[in-house]
Amino acid sequence: LGTMSVSESGSLEIGEVKAEDLVEEYGTPLLVFDEKELRKNARLYYRTLAESYSGQFKVFYASKAFASRTLYRILDQENLHVEVVSGGELNRALQAEFPSRKIFFHGNNKSREELVMGLENEIGGFFIDNHEEAEMLEKAAEELNTQTEVMIRLKPGIEAHTHEYIMTGQSDSKFGVGIKDGDARQLIERLSSSAVLNLTGLHAHIGSQIYEQEAYLRLVEIMFDFMDEIKRDLGLEFSSLNLGGGLGIQQNEENPEVDVERYLELISEKVSEEADKRNYRLPEIMVEPGRSIVGTAGTTLYRVGTIKRVSENKKYIAVDGGMADNIRPALYDAEYSAFLANRADEEPIESVSVAGKFCESGDILIDEIDLPRAERGDILAVPATGAYTYPLANNYNEACRPAIVIVNQGKARLIERRETYEDLVRRDIIPPEYR
Ligand code: LLP
Repeated sequence: LGTMSVSESGSLEIGEVKAEDLVEEYGTPLLVFDEKELRKNARLYYRTLAESYSGQFKVFYASKAFASRTLYRILDQENLHVEVVSGGELNRALQAEFPSRKIFFHGNNKSREELVMGLENEIGGFFIDNHEEAEMLEKAAEELNTQTEVMIRLKPGIEAHTHEYIMTGQSDSKFGVGIKDGDARQLIERLSSSAVLNLTGLHAHIGSQIYEQEAYLRLVEIMFDFMDEIKRDLGLEFSSLNLGGGLGIQQNEENPEVDVERYLELISEKVSEEADKRNYRLPEIMVEPGRSIVGTAGTTLYRVGTIKRVSENKKYIAVDGGMADNIRPALYDAEYSAFLANRADEEPIESVSVAGKFCESGDILIDEIDLPRAERGDILAVPATGAYTYPLANNYNEACRPAIVIVNQGKARLIERRETYEDLVRRDIIPPEYR
């Protein structure tokens, strides 16, 4: 995976830095990003589209998967755009000096303040989720005497096979406007007469951690069918089609391998074909990967503590993190793999459960995994934890959020320092009468 390797002495190395040295210097739990893998993932998207699609395209990184100023700098260098879903994400991207024109705003309940923040910073555009938002944005743009590009978020009515909590395309979803109920068409009509909102395209996102690439082909058809309807009834054409994100990653050996190139080639071909067949100018394609950019680039390192055999076939090894730094197993039944980073050359000999340290029976990071006989003090590495771990991290049991480092060519650099107890009480106020 990535630039991970095992040294002669049996230690895991990421970006040519020994895991033991990393935890020695930065402590555990530690989230380690492999710069090479990050850049490889970003490049794969950009290059494949450049090579397989003859029209224009944009690759948006979905900030929600993991936001960091260093990451934004890297993504800018790799020609990616970014999408944000909140004032907070927008702020971080701007703080990284990410070019504001390359930032687009998503979200199902953007506040007026967030819309204004986007307009004032002259971001590239907004994905409009609903009618009221269109009104608010139009008013704000008029007041600020500015214009902006907008696209409409559709509910395509597709149910991709993924966990219920991360399905988004179905018609009762809270995101976007429906096609069948005429909602989307009304919104288009409304926007087409706006003097300050420049409607350029359609967007749809069908869910996350998706392995079925065919779902995206269905999506392209649905979007073209809808465009036909709009062209026929309103005489309008769109120049951009945003097919959302959602491509899955290999989180453990049991997951299917994911071929990003094939996925991009398939959609490029499909969009070209449909445009040709239906007599449209080749639209600009947009995609919005989050997980498949950062997921495989992140590895979490933990220190093994309590080891407890509770029955003949159940043994727990507890680590010094868990659902506070990675809630995904508890929340989505996400399954990860793991190995001992300081003894990476040893064969697995027993099946164990990896338990977190937090006060919930459900805080089990990995239900069953084969490992060498682990001992207190060993380092456990959990790969493919770069996406939706840190952004969903919390302070349950007053846990401090982990430190994050980026590694490359034998060098490690801190990109987010570990939270401290001081950080945790900083916003805690004792009013005078309670002192
Ligand atoms: N575009 C839109 C409009 C989205 O809502 C999302 C993710 C993405 C793009 C990026 O999807 P990705 O390529 O990362 O799958 N917390 C959950 C995932 C929630 C995804 C939310 N939307 C998890 O940990 O699995």
